[in-house]
Parts: sequence; C-alpha cells; structure tokens
Amino acid sequence: MKNWSIIAEGFHKEDVTKHESIYSLGNGAMGMRANFEEDYTGNTLQGSYIGGVYYPDKTKVGWWKNGYPEYFAKVLNAPSWIGLHIKINGEVLDLNTCTEVKNFRRELNMKEGWYERQFTVTLPNGAQIAVKALRLLSLRYDELGALRYEITPLSSEVTVEIESYLDSGVKNNDANWDELFWNTLEVEAAANNAHILAATKKTDFKVLTFMQNKLFVEGKALEVSSKQNKKDSYIGLQYQVALKKNQTFKIEKYGGYKTLSSPDAPQPSYAALLSTTDAFESLLKMQKEDWAAIWELSDIQIEGDDKAQQAIRFNIFQLNQTYSGKHAHLNIGPKGFTGEKYGGSTYWDTEAYCLPFYMATKGAEVARNLLMYRYNQLDKAIENAKKLGFTGGAALYPMVTMNGEECHNEWEITFEEIHRNGAIAFAIYNYVRYTGDEAYIKDYGLEVLVAIARFWAQRASFSAEKQKYVILGVTGPNEYENNVNNNFYTNYIAQWCLRYAAEQVEVFKREAIAQEELQQWLHIAQNMYFPYSEKYGVYLQQDGFLDKDLKPASAIPAKERPLNQHWSWDRILRSPYIKQADTLQGFYFFRNHFTHEELRKHYEFYEPFTVHESSLSPCVHSVLAAALDKKEEAYALYLRTSRLDLDDYNKEVHEGLHITSMAGTWLSIVEGFGGMHVVDNQLHFKPCLPAHWRSLSFKVIFRGQLHVCKFVN
Ligand code: BGC
Repeated sequence: MKNWSIIAEGFHKEDVTKHESIYSLGNGAMGMRANFEEDYTGNTLQGSYIGGVYYPDKTKVGWWKNGYPEYFAKVLNAPSWIGLHIKINGEVLDLNTCTEVKNFRRELNMKEGWYERQFTVTLPNGAQIAVKALRLLSLRYDELGALRYEITPLSSEVTVEIESYLDSGVKNNDANWDELFWNTLEVEAAANNAHILAATKKTDFKVLTFMQNKLFVEGKALEVSSKQNKKDSYIGLQYQVALKKNQTFKIEKYGGYKTLSSPDAPQPSYAALLSTTDAFESLLKMQKEDWAAIWELSDIQIEGDDKAQQAIRFNIFQLNQTYSGKHAHLNIGPKGFTGEKYGGSTYWDTEAYCLPFYMATKGAEVARNLLMYRYNQLDKAIENAKKLGFTGGAALYPMVTMNGEECHNEWEITFEEIHRNGAIAFAIYNYVRYTGDEAYIKDYGLEVLVAIARFWAQRASFSAEKQKYVILGVTGPNEYENNVNNNFYTNYIAQWCLRYAAEQVEVFKREAIAQEELQQWLHIAQNMYFPYSEKYGVYLQQDGFLDKDLKPASAIPAKERPLNQHWSWDRILRSPYIKQADTLQGFYFFRNHFTHEELRKHYEFYEPFTVHESSLSPCVHSVLAAALDKKEEAYALYLRTSRLDLDDYNKEVHEGLHITSMAGTWLSIVEGFGGMHVVDNQLHFKPCLPAHWRSLSFKVIFRGQLHVCKFVN
C-alpha cells in the first residue's frame, strides 16, 4: 500500500531501540513502544504509558535554588501486558541469541492503525520457526489493546511452551533515585484471565492491568488449561502445545488498563465483544473504520513526491495516536507515548504548535478542550507566580506540567522561559479567530488573559536610562542563550498580551478590572523597549546580539553538529547560534504586523545562524520561507521537520518521537505550502508548491464548515 505504511526489512540489533520508537502505537489514552512480545536480551527501551498517570520524582539538582519545584513529573513506564515468554523445545526464543534471523519485517499500517512484525529464525537448538505478530490499541475502546502472535514450525515438530504475563515490577530509565514507582496491591488469575492492581507511589493512581488469552491451532480454538506462575508483581499463565511441522499455533492476547482513579466517565464495555470467537477480527475491523474516519478529515495528499507524502502521513498518524481530544484532563507530551524523555508533560508546544492541527482536523470542541486544560489550571498558575513573588492575581503558567504545577527545575527554563505565558494567551486569540467561538473569551478566556497581563505588567520594569519598559533576565525560545535582557520575542508577545487583554476587558465590559489597571497595561505596552539594529534593519534577538562573532552556521564543520552533542554548554552560550526560531517565532505568530520586506530581512538575517537543534524549529522557518516564495528552502526545511524521526536527523529517535513538532510539520504544509491564514474572520490561501509537486490537497474545518482544498502546480 503505497505511502500508507512504514516498513523496515532485515534484523539489525543496532536499530532495535530506534524502531521501538518509530513503530510505537497509541490511542490517545495509552501507548507503547514497539517492544518485542517475546524475550529480548539485546538493547531495548521498554515502555508502555498511560495518559495522565505520572509520578512526582523528587527533584535532584546540584545546588538548590529558592523557588525550584519539589519534583519533576515523570510519565510512568506502566505495567506491561504484551509479554510472552516463549520456549521452543525447551529453548528461549530471543532474537538476540538465535543463530539465524531471516525475513525480518516490521510494518506500521497507518491507514488501518496496526503494527505487524514477522520473522523466521533458527534457535541455538536447531529448531526453525516462523513468527507473525500483529497488534493494535483500540481507538473505539481506549482501555483495550489486542495482539495476535502466530508460531509455525518449519523443519520438524516442536513443543511450544508459552507464558503470557503481566508485570508491574517495571522501572523508569529516567528515575532520579532508581526507585520503583508502583506498589502492587493485588495479583489475580482465573482460567485464561488475569489482572494486577497497582497504585503509583505518592500520586496514588490506581490502575488495573488486565489480560485475557485465547489459543488456537490451525485456526481451531484450543481448550488447554493454564498453569499459574504468580509472584509479588507478576502473573504468568503457562500453556504447552505440541505442533507438527507447518502447523500454526496462535495466541490472541487482549489486555490494557483501567485507570480506576480517572476523572473520566466509565468507558463503554467490551466484555461481550471479548467473549466472541472472532473478537480479534472485530477489533481490527473497528480499528480500520475508526482510522478511516480520522483520515477522511485529516489526510493530506501530495502528488509527485512519495517521500514527502509518506512523511506527512506519519506525522498525522502519530498526532492522532497521541491525542484524541476525548479526555479533557489529557494533553500532548512532546514525546507522546513513545518514550520517557520530557516526562509526558505539557509544554508551550501545545499552544504554539499543536492547537492549529487539532482545530482544523478535529474541530472546535477538541481544540477547546486544550484551552480548557489551561483554564482549569489557572489557580495553580497564580500560585506558581506567587511563589516567585508576583501578586494581585498574576499568573505564570508552568513551562512543564502534569497537573498545573511547575515541575521542571533548571533555573533558565523554570524561571526564565516566561514566554510560555504569551503562547497560552496567543492560543486563545488564535482559537477565537479561527473558530469564531467568542463566548469562550467571555466565559473562560478573559480570566486567563487578565491574569497573564498582570504577570507581564509586574515582570516588565522601567529603565530610567532608556525611558522604556524592559524585560530582564529571560530565556527566549532559543535555549542556547540564557539570562538575556530584552529578548525581542518575549518583549513583543508581552506587549501584545497587555494590549489584547485590555481590549478584551473593554469588549466584555469587565467592570471589576479598574480602568487604572488597564491604562497601566497600555502604558507599559506603548513604552516597551525593543533592541533594533539600524545597520541591518532588524530587531535584535536580545540586547548585545551584535557583539557576538557573527559567523554563519554553515562555517561550523559538519562533524561538530549537532552542537549540543559536541560543544561545551559554555561555548554554545557565547556563540551566535540559535537553537530554534526565536525572533522569527514572533514573525510567525504576528505576520500581519510586519511588511513582506521586514519579514524577508529578518528571515535572511536569522536563518544563517539557526542550527535547528530543536525539532520545533525547521517548521516555523519552512512556513516563513514559503511566505517569501523561497520554495527550495521551504521544501528542504519541510523534509527536515517531516522526516526528522523517520530519517533520525538529530540522532536521538531511540529516546522517542518528536510528537509536538509533528504538528509543526502540518503547519509547514497547510500554512506554508498552502499559505492558509485568517484575515478579517475569513480563510485565505496563498499556495506556493515546490516545483516538483503536481498537486497538494487537504481538508480543514473552519468555523464549523469543512473546506476541501486542492492546489495544482
Ligand atoms: C525546546 C522547547 C520545547 C521542548 C519540548 C526543547 O528542546 O527548546 O521549546 O518546549 O523541547 O518540546
């Protein structure tokens, strides 16, 4: 199926962890890396994750600083339900020790939402078998997953011993203190069913991990009884089957998680479905239907470029695996359900990058859930600001959070990357402009805008020297600079927030907010300072940017890239190299505030220094390059963003996928090559297709109406 599948052929041990990330599955409520079902003694990162279930790992830092959060929230590696210990004629099946592995093939079928792995092996004892394993995480019943594992002996009859298990004795690789995060409360089994009830330490999320096994030989249900292997945090159900040459044994395993402490309404029951003999086929059929409905709205078609086509589908697929919009308490972690890094927490990525994708492909309700997530956490954001010394209802949203509390503790990020507050306000504006849902501001958004404006009004300080308001000691989106003064992007978004909040207070006549306070916001906004270079005709990323040794990034030897893996942090900080769009992030958000010529000048000034070592960077530059009609550059940047994980540009895909930047990939197609933008409540397009694309088609929901767009070269 062309461009609908990701396929890898051949078994290479060095690719296992990388492919565990790429072939990950998720259904918005849970997800898992593509770990093997059978034992594997080679290098692997075991990972199953449940949305919203986290552990507050006690902060570990060299020097404690006042104001640091007490913990760093970790998305938990959850009890595993996919595992099968398999022995063939008494020998453990382990691809790391097999004498020969042939016909190894993985396929991620994005159209239908399943993952399959096949191989034939010779074990050290000489037994030869073929294996085919297919699994899915159901979209319809998002507590449920299913796998089908088939074994066929190829050279002689064999005895298969199989132990299908649940294991809650799992660890996080990134645990600060090497502790286990789960307490196992109950381990139970009966016939072919078993469950483990476990609770997270400290947070007390109670999760029931369950399994049900069905066995077949040559398609006929097998009535064998299981033996139990029960331990403190483990339950295995053992079966033994004798197989003739070429006879196929199949185990179907149904499993998943019920989060007993979830704020969600009870989920639809699938008990009856599981009691039918063709439960697996039924689930597969539903999966195809549910993915077909998603693709119906969100597919993007690019004629004339298979690489670009496959890549955008991979990105859209992963975004839908990560966030379904069904659960208001969930959000979008930068790695989704594909790895531990970034703790599965919420970052500014959601508002700055992800919102437009969900708004246009799923509609206003889902996008509203994302905004409500922040609204519901406003009290915590006010508390967070209070801890840092702000008063009067000022809110500072956390840079990283699970429940509204800040849970990141590097001072330059926690205290300084305050621009995140701006993105949260901008998302409200963006949502209302796109969906037309003005009531959102009246009912919820205004409270957030006011609290954010109060923060900026206190965070900006008056410089007697400049006779302007300045914002000191910040880190902009470019994390390769810390503690800078007057970061253009931060000052600009602060100015915009102050004005927008004041305007909305007037529109909705909130008399409780005193006129003097509004006047003060407008006064600060009016007198905000922006560093500017007359010589280059550009705003400077921050005070003193021109003092740097301004050699373009092209002067850095290839073997020294990425810089963060080769240079000392000190050297990076002193260099002019920009990790990700910073000043240009401002130009992206506020394109209509600047002329085409201003955009061109800024793009041409900053792009040569930008090393794009954040996955969130090339997409923004790609959109701007397309707006400037720089087709080739826009295309190169698009490939970099869309194939970042598939082609492992930053050599880190083994840690997990870059989910939030995948929404950026969508932006680079729809807002970049499609040129979509909203002016005066109307949707406009200014297409700029790469020369070799025959056509580009996509659909967007705008103000409740579906628009079908096709651009032809
Ligand atoms: C980026 C941040 C981003 C975070 C999570 C970092 O590398 O610099 O802007 O929020 O990754 O994606």
